[in-house]
Amino acid sequence: MKDLECSQKFLKFPEGFLWGAASASYQVEGGIYNNDWAKGADEGKVPQAGKSSDHYNLYEKDFDIAKSLGQNCQRISVEWSRIEPVEGRFDQNEIMHYRKVLKALNDRGLKPFLTLWHFTLPQWFSEKGGFESKEAPEIFSRYCAFVVSQLDDLCSNFSTMNEPMVISGIGYHRGKWPPFKKSKIKAYKVINNLIRSHNLSYQKIKTENKSLDINFVKHNINFVSDWKPWNKIICAFANFFWNHRFIKKTIKNSDSIGINYYTSRFFGIKNNVPKNDMGWSLNPEGLGDVLLDLKKYNKPIYITEAGIADKKDHYRAEYIKGLVKSVHRAIQDDLDVRGFMYWSILDNFEWAEGYEPRFGLVEVDYKTLERKIRPSAYVYKTICEDNGLKLE
Ligand code: BGC
Repeated sequence: MKDLECSQKFLKFPEGFLWGAASASYQVEGGIYNNDWAKGADEGKVPQAGKSSDHYNLYEKDFDIAKSLGQNCQRISVEWSRIEPVEGRFDQNEIMHYRKVLKALNDRGLKPFLTLWHFTLPQWFSEKGGFESKEAPEIFSRYCAFVVSQLDDLCSNFSTMNEPMVISGIGYHRGKWPPFKKSKIKAYKVINNLIRSHNLSYQKIKTENKSLDINFVKHNINFVSDWKPWNKIICAFANFFWNHRFIKKTIKNSDSIGINYYTSRFFGIKNNVPKNDMGWSLNPEGLGDVLLDLKKYNKPIYITEAGIADKKDHYRAEYIKGLVKSVHRAIQDDLDVRGFMYWSILDNFEWAEGYEPRFGLVEVDYKTLERKIRPSAYVYKTICEDNGLKLE
């Protein structure tokens, strides 16, 4: 058990713990038209992202806000379709742009965490079959290695990909996201290709620069069942297949684990937990269980996302406190958790749900682009500045 000198009234976090928030290129930047989501939007299959919150131009302002909120790290992603708009042709202007973005983070004392691919595929890659294609690991790892080689003097924590299981589940099995396929077999094939793609990218990046922290970002769910054997079996299978299979097959090629947590799924248990604006069960304690279930991998862990769609800001402050308690419980239980990044710094484009769900610590008026800090953001600010949580 870690000695964190906790009084009953204060949950102290380890020295140097990182507190921040996260975002992703297509969800906040605006002006991205050369990827599979933009194509899907033109075909009327998903909403248009349009100019979003124009973070591409307003990033300095947004990082000023993050800084003013007591944060000391920030997770962002780069847009593959900007950097490699045509196969094999890398756009140095876009690299320069992201160098400026990283510099802006460093100048403000916000340690950058950079995801190389967060859901959206360049149009040319998607036309080639995306991650169904045999060539995918080669193409993806070439892109990852190139980008890292251009940015590794400004950033040392890179994630190759965000939520591989979500991509394959929603894009290839449920058919709700590009490429709108509905096939279990394709979904399974894509996961295996994503495993290969991560592993190859890791190896290429590390051959060039051993000192970097390279990981993947995994979306894990807290699966809970009652005592009935059948429910227990389904629960164990879901836990293995959704939470662990990808990790088991990539962990040798990962320096740490990035975890996104949003919800619990109950088998045979009637739960009365509140729901977020998207109907997801709010169970912040579940994050603690998800983290403890990762102990066997014996790697440093970053919470790369955890958050709540809560337009009225009714539950967000309490939910964040609950998440923080969960992280603290895991650290006390000897898990090497090193940072927590709330999703999201800004309201943003919530994929197939468009702009209605509001996850931001900061509210965005999409017409005027005005940013307004929500009251719950100040509660989180106190946690960040105190490096811990005062209990009432
Ligand atoms: C994704 C984000 C998304 C968030 C809320 C995560 O699964 O990485 O892009 O906005 O969940 O749905």
